[in-house]
Amino acid sequence: MSADSPKVTYPFFTLSDSSPFRFGLCDSSEKSLPPPPPSIEVHLSEASSVESPNVDSVFITDGLTLLKGRVSTNDVFGVSDSDLIPGKYEGGLKLWEGSIDLIKTLESEIKLANILLSGKRVLELGCGHSLPGIFAGLNGAGSVHFQDFNAEVLKHLTIPNVKYNLPNISFGKDTGSELTKQEEQHKLLDVRFFAGDWREVHCLLVPGSEDNNLKECEKYDVILMAETVYSLSAIQHLYNLIKKCLCHPCGVVYLAGKKHYFGVGGGTRQFLQVVNDDGAMEASLLAEFANGSSNVREVWKISFKATHC
Ligand SMILES: C[S@@+](CC[C@H](N)C(=O)[O-])C[C@H]1O[C@@H](n2cnc3c(N)ncnc32)[C@H](O)[C@@H]1O
Repeated sequence: MSADSPKVTYPFFTLSDSSPFRFGLCDSSEKSLPPPPPSIEVHLSEASSVESPNVDSVFITDGLTLLKGRVSTNDVFGVSDSDLIPGKYEGGLKLWEGSIDLIKTLESEIKLANILLSGKRVLELGCGHSLPGIFAGLNGAGSVHFQDFNAEVLKHLTIPNVKYNLPNISFGKDTGSELTKQEEQHKLLDVRFFAGDWREVHCLLVPGSEDNNLKECEKYDVILMAETVYSLSAIQHLYNLIKKCLCHPCGVVYLAGKKHYFGVGGGTRQFLQVVNDDGAMEASLLAEFANGSSNVREVWKISFKATHC
């Protein structure tokens, strides 16, 4: 990154403003959506390079600044001025406010000793820029796996962001290429990247989960997700995926999102309704963020009921 790269101050944009379709969001029933893209693993070597003028510093808290690429939806998807196109592009190229809320909350959870990320298997669902997963990597996670709807987002944004911020990544399955001595020494944190729809991507994230052939220790200890609960039609699929991927009984989910996504019908409360209706898990509110003029944003912790971990 060049020394004079612009510093981005938070928030970057607000999807919480009350005008419903300001960012091109519209709810759509599943029936009208195109078939989902195939679930695939994207390897580190498939990343596109981002020119250094297109890398910004993101100030999160005193002492914590992360780097992020700037990639246009026009260049990648051939559409401009669109936050998402349901079923085609699901918003991963923008940095949403909830991901910063999530990092701030995780930071206080660590300070309060409510969570220890050291050595943990972490999954970030709907990662986009992937800053919460990167934060987990910086705080000692043993592995961080990143999922996005679009392989293009992983190649153009997620993997470059991971490379800027995490020097100690494992080159995992890419070992076809020769590693330098320095890369070998830093081969500590396992990172992997998966593209696919929440309805299907468990086949890659937790292979064997379908036929109950999976040990709990092969699942994830911590699932992170920011701004993933905006679409009513996807909420149930997201919850089903979490139940398949999360280690029982001690796994935890940290969810950041808006209380309501005006005009689209989703929101944290709609997701929590699905959690409550199922009855296996319970949720507690960790943080609220409001600036007085826009929608309230929340961070929730969700875990299995009656566990002693
Ligand atoms: C609004 S973006 C949030 C991106 C990022 N977490 C942030 O806060 O900046 C929603 C994310 O969820 C993913 N997503 C949405 N619907 C999905 C679906 N049905 N299956 C898989 N991923 C989905 C998108 O690809 C995108 O990464």
